Amino acid sequence: MERVLGIDLGTTNTCVAIVEEGVPTVIPNRGGYKTTPSMVAITEAGKRLVGHIAKRQAITNAENTVYAAKRLIGRKWTSPQVKNAVSTASYKIVEGPHGDVRLVLRDKTYSVAEISAMILQEAKIFAEDYLNEPVTKAVITVPAYFNDNQRQATKDAGAIAGLDVIRIINEPTAAALAYGFGKNVDKVIAVFDLGGGTFDISVLEISSSGVFKVIATAGDTFLGGEDFDGRVIDWLVEGFKEQHQVDLRQDRMALQRLKDAAEKAKCELSGVAETEINLPFIISSGRNDALHLQRTLTRAKLNELCEDLVERCIEICRQTLEDARLEKDEIEEVILVGGMTRMPAVQDSVTKFFGREPCKGVHPDEVVGLGAAVQGAALVDESREMILLDVTPHALGIMTFGSKFEELIPKNTTVPTSRSKIFTTSRDNQTAVKILVMQGDSEKATDNELLGEFILTGLRRAPKGQVEIEVNFEINSDGIVSVSAKDLETGQAQSIQVTASSGLTKDEVKAMMDNAKDFLVEARTNDEFEGVKQEAEKFVTEIEKMFPQVEAVVASSDFGREAIGKARSILEKTRDAIAKRESAVVKEQMEALARTHRMFKGVVSRPH
Ligand SMILES: Nc1ncnc2c1ncn2[C@@H]1O[C@H](COP(=O)(O)OP(=O)(O)OP(=O)(O)O)[C@@H](O)[C@H]1O
Ligand SMILES: [Mg+2]
Repeated sequence: MERVLGIDLGTTNTCVAIVEEGVPTVIPNRGGYKTTPSMVAITEAGKRLVGHIAKRQAITNAENTVYAAKRLIGRKWTSPQVKNAVSTASYKIVEGPHGDVRLVLRDKTYSVAEISAMILQEAKIFAEDYLNEPVTKAVITVPAYFNDNQRQATKDAGAIAGLDVIRIINEPTAAALAYGFGKNVDKVIAVFDLGGGTFDISVLEISSSGVFKVIATAGDTFLGGEDFDGRVIDWLVEGFKEQHQVDLRQDRMALQRLKDAAEKAKCELSGVAETEINLPFIISSGRNDALHLQRTLTRAKLNELCEDLVERCIEICRQTLEDARLEKDEIEEVILVGGMTRMPAVQDSVTKFFGREPCKGVHPDEVVGLGAAVQGAALVDESREMILLDVTPHALGIMTFGSKFEELIPKNTTVPTSRSKIFTTSRDNQTAVKILVMQGDSEKATDNELLGEFILTGLRRAPKGQVEIEVNFEINSDGIVSVSAKDLETGQAQSIQVTASSGLTKDEVKAMMDNAKDFLVEARTNDEFEGVKQEAEKFVTEIEKMFPQVEAVVASSDFGREAIGKARSILEKTRDAIAKRESAVVKEQMEALARTHRMFKGVVSRPH
């Protein structure tokens, strides 16, 4: 039987799983970790880095390191979310040729799908290493609230990575599959998924006969851990400005360090009541001295900074229950998914809202990937009795005269589905109609997402309203939309599968697939240790060179002596690990090396 990877391509972390001997299992990456940071970087030498290795060098190579690409996938250049990302990301985002979004790394331009493909390709490679056999089929998860453009672009990413994406499924639904797998229960459950980039809530009915039926789903594709980090960053930046009159946002490296520290503090505050944020030599004041950032953040303050974000999640839950026509007490189990649900304030709000303690039995980081693997196995093995009935998260329709949105398929309709409606011409002697396919929940068409358009020509000349055109919408099990229109008199028809909207044409996807193929060979033959070693050695040599000078300058202060001591021990650990060829340990030191290097540079370059 062919094996199918389940891939949770997260905003922050990617998790890969497979069903082994009937048991869903997470596949560890080459470093032995069960999740891989969804980060991609291009080094000065043009080398591609993915995952932990990309994350470790993010501070020193901020401009060429992409994180949270999922927030941009399938979005239009003009969307507010992209505008927001352009002003806050440490990497360069530009407009693509189809009004889409492209990323610039070391003077080369990439589509967002290509960046996601690099992560998927890495996943494919380590999974194949682990399984000791080639795997091409995959089920990839997307936030339930993703629209058609975002789903298409995710499928493109899979294709570029050389994967045959046999199904796209919604993340909360995947979580429910993993939760219900082998349990034989009949229950109505809510899956609350707050990850790095997106929030999703789904209400499902699971039955012991193996039917998983989604009743309602909703979410926000721009609400997640990144926004919580953003609040802490803002707080740090504002505080620093007040104290030193220096805007840290002007410095990409400082910003990347802030981001790192903010996320770390946020995570720590899930376990302790207060934490220290310490960023020595964060920036130079321009008056010949380096400035340090040092602040204490309490859990209470964090909660205050993020209160409205948590409230937004709860508001969406309220709406979803309404859509599902269910009362809170009809929800028999609440499942928490996503790293952000470790935050006590999030847990408390969920408990309070649903009036029950959430289920403790699922792993928030792994459950989505595991569910994707369960679905993958069921798709290739018909003996597995499992039926998944998902819904479309947004209404679908067309734009009619006067910019009105005419709905054909309401939100929360079970997919696959198809619906038809008859329209007429809006002007006298109109011989062509343009069908604008839209997705969204507003009555005003222009507020909704344009998925694609096509023209039906050759209509009979007649007074307005007399020519009838039937429009048919179809949504397949991936949640992907096809639309056709037919002149009822002549039978002439036009149709599209909404594709060009992912920002890539078919030819472009093919060209990228070909490029990716070339890369595959390269990625497999790279000796990982040699690469890491070279990078680490470069740092060690340069730090050693600066040592005497730095010591002379800072040894007079306690803080300085401590820093020197730390630097010494970092060098020692690195040299030791290089000698023992311990690639993982060398990599672990990389961030500390980069930090020390930067700090030393700051001291040395100061005039004394
Ligand atoms: N202990 C913790 N306390 C608070 N937040 C945490 C903790 N651990 C992880 N996080 C946050 O969880 C987020 C990552 O969660 P997760 O890995 O579930 O996201 P993802 O699946 O990559 O994203 P998405 O599902 O939105 O695409 C990050 O913002 C991270 O900072
Ligand atoms: Mg997730």
